Amino acid sequence: MNRSKPPAGEGSIPGADFLQLSIADAPAGGRSAWLATRLRSAISDGRLPVGSRLPATRVLAAELRVSRGVVTEAYQRLVEDGHVAGRGRAGTVVVAAPVAPVFTPASVVDSPFVGTPDVSVFDTLRAIPARVDLTPGVPDLAAFPRAAWLRAERTVLGSLSAADLGYGDPRGAPALRRAVAHWLARNRGIRVSPEEIVIVAGVSQALGLLAQVLGVESIAVEDPGSLGTRQHLGNWGVATPPAPVDALGLRVSALDAPAVLVTPAHQFPTGVVLSGGRRRELLDWAAAGGIVIEDDYDAEHRYDRPPVPALRSMRSAEVCYAGSVSKLLAPALRLGWLLVPPRLLADVVWAKRNADLGNGVLAQFTLAELMESGALEQQLRFLRPRHRRRRDAMIASVRASLPGATVHGAAAGLHLTVTFPGSFSDVAVAAAVLGEGVKVQPLSWHRQRPGRPGLVLGYAARTPSEIADGVAVIGRVLPDFY
Ligand SMILES: Cc1ncc(COP(=O)(O)O)c(C=O)c1O
Repeated sequence: MNRSKPPAGEGSIPGADFLQLSIADAPAGGRSAWLATRLRSAISDGRLPVGSRLPATRVLAAELRVSRGVVTEAYQRLVEDGHVAGRGRAGTVVVAAPVAPVFTPASVVDSPFVGTPDVSVFDTLRAIPARVDLTPGVPDLAAFPRAAWLRAERTVLGSLSAADLGYGDPRGAPALRRAVAHWLARNRGIRVSPEEIVIVAGVSQALGLLAQVLGVESIAVEDPGSLGTRQHLGNWGVATPPAPVDALGLRVSALDAPAVLVTPAHQFPTGVVLSGGRRRELLDWAAAGGIVIEDDYDAEHRYDRPPVPALRSMRSAEVCYAGSVSKLLAPALRLGWLLVPPRLLADVVWAKRNADLGNGVLAQFTLAELMESGALEQQLRFLRPRHRRRRDAMIASVRASLPGATVHGAAAGLHLTVTFPGSFSDVAVAAAVLGEGVKVQPLSWHRQRPGRPGLVLGYAARTPSEIADGVAVIGRVLPDFY
């Protein structure tokens, strides 16, 4: 990164060796995408600060010895990202920087992340803007019920007492704990008293609290299983030995730890539902002294199958249960709930108090209002067919563009996983795809032991045409790796 060069200031037009670009570095057939990526990098690292002007398309095309259409298309991609805007006679001007440094496909492949979890690279990838972002685990954020939220917040503000705005109960606002108890009874078959519920900042915080209070050195995690949740446990010094997952879900007989984290309703990332037999085995294992942590992260999103009861609804004495609104409304709310067996409750509340003195109160009351008024269920009814259409679009696109791929876990959730025959680096594929403006997660990020290459593809947050576009790019890139 050349930081010694003075940045182009407002109104100035960069010089002849614009960004030291050399068209020889561009892949054949992908020149516009390559140019757009280089320009995003320059905006991100400050070589093209907000307010600076891009060269006229004719000038840059002549300099790079490409057709003007290549440059125009690259600029158009940046316009669509919201990074630049046409300003009439002033030309094309940088108006916003990406939120994090762009890391290039090469740095993904070369990174120490391959095979070893590295939080910084993971988070950097999350922050990179992409033309089509197929990151899993995100609902349709454009469908966030802004009007209903606003109405609920207005109702809440009209009735909150001054005392409600002080430091509250670290377990969470009583109104939300009541609403969550009702929600879990209606939607997950769980009978629980509001007194037993702790409001948390998402499943991720729930895992951090459990890691602190369970008093175990290791918690087995599904393999494949969520890298993010493994990182949260690892952050508290808890080892996360792999527990294999097969077509029936977690292999309980292979458990070799005092506790296990499991996603029974929709295993992440394979989408397998924990079978009846394995559920019974797991609950027997818990009755014999094992600790089960149930991550119910996207249980509400199901399309072609009946609801799967929560483990917690079958046995409460041994099952810790965590859920959140991250997949129902938006991860940005950072609101979730944790249920623990009574013997752990006081310690969990103490850990939560020491973490942050409790969640923000206004959002808690607003969510309670949404839950109790039926607006959240209405949102779910609205989302389901929308997500299902997107899921169908992704399956159709995979069939059309990725012959030979096997689709896993499409009956529920917000993502699906595809695996490929053969053996090649899915990290390298994800990196190459990112170079073409499409963001996906390689399956091997979520594995602790080697397995078939694959990709984890989120569909809920993208339109059918974006999905088709993104999967077609994967289809174009993939043959280079076979
Ligand atoms: C399997 C799984 N569990 C938990 C989480 C964390 O969710 P939250 O936003 O509730 O912390 C994620 C996030 O994507 C996830 O994929």
